[in-house]
Amino acid sequence: MANQIKTIGVLTSGGDAPGMNAAIRSVVRKALANGVSVKGIKKGYQGLLNEEIIDMDRHSVSDIIQRGGTILGTARCSEFRTEEGQAKGAEICRKHGIDGLVVIGGDGSYRGAQQIARHGINTVGLPGTIDLDIACTDYTIGFDTAVNTAMSAIDKVRDTSSSHERCSIIEVMGRNAGYIALWCGVANGAEDILLPEKYDYNEQSIINNIIANRKRGKTHHIIINAEGIGHSTSMARRIEAATGIETRATILGYMQRGGNPTCKDRFYASVMGAYAADILCQGKSNRVVGYKNGEFRDFDIEEALAMKKDISEYQYEVSRVLAQ
Ligand code: ADP
Ligand code: F6P
Repeated sequence: MANQIKTIGVLTSGGDAPGMNAAIRSVVRKALANGVSVKGIKKGYQGLLNEEIIDMDRHSVSDIIQRGGTILGTARCSEFRTEEGQAKGAEICRKHGIDGLVVIGGDGSYRGAQQIARHGINTVGLPGTIDLDIACTDYTIGFDTAVNTAMSAIDKVRDTSSSHERCSIIEVMGRNAGYIALWCGVANGAEDILLPEKYDYNEQSIINNIIANRKRGKTHHIIINAEGIGHSTSMARRIEAATGIETRATILGYMQRGGNPTCKDRFYASVMGAYAADILCQGKSNRVVGYKNGEFRDFDIEEALAMKKDISEYQYEVSRVLAQ
């Protein structure tokens, strides 16, 4: 492939997500196939500023596609939010001969990529986050694994909840986004699903619902609570006091972020990684790769960051009807 790009760098940034390794592997192998060499940057933008940069070849990404986490490590880096940090990062890229950079992370990481592009380094972002909260794409690397992990865990909590005739509040991740909660709420047949995008729940009506369901003979009551709503433990205490039914809160936490990626996360991350390597090698910059309306495509970072995403009204309505 004819191009002026000689070396690309790859880093993972923000929260780790299952499938990031598949993306790294694909970036490395596709770039090498395009005749471009690859450097791995450890620990996100922090590692870039600390010059934690390694050469990567085909073998450095062997035996990783099935592993959760990220072999490069990840970090949050406040210094990179500053003009000095961004200029220093671009300078370090130039020093190491890196003329293109693949950034795998969420929209915060995209903002970093946008800044480093402004300082003359070609950048492409890949959507790596379990939260599914990136507007330009219907898919983010890690969501499928996280939501399946959460679903299995909730099935297990439901078994014990039914056996003891308890009420369970299960808090899932997602920062300010309710996608994991919505998907699990439907897939686990929850009685209540609380989403930060809606914030329309009323604790008294949940309590009335629990009492009515118990009278009808239901042995469990599962409430899926999104992280963006929070307060699961105090909510459990209040519900127990008001209903007289033992109520426990389970916060699933980081177990949702770890673990072997699903086939979907391995496949989509592989296609997206190759796509990112290809467009960088073609000389494109300031782009992000997404999966929208059934196809992989790329967007201008600024346009991507300006897009808005919200829970589908129809999906939300379905979740409410099925929960009754
Ligand atoms: P995510 O990428 O998952 O959204 P964060 O929002 O924590 O996670 O962002 C990851 C990192 O990206 C931050 O620690 C910081 O180094 C960098 N970053 C975030 N926002 C900006 C910004 N506005 N300008 C430059 N870098 C940023
Ligand atoms: O963005 C992924 C995510 O797991 C969110 O769901 C959560 O709010 C956040 O990261 C937690 O971040 P940290 O790694 O700083 O605990």
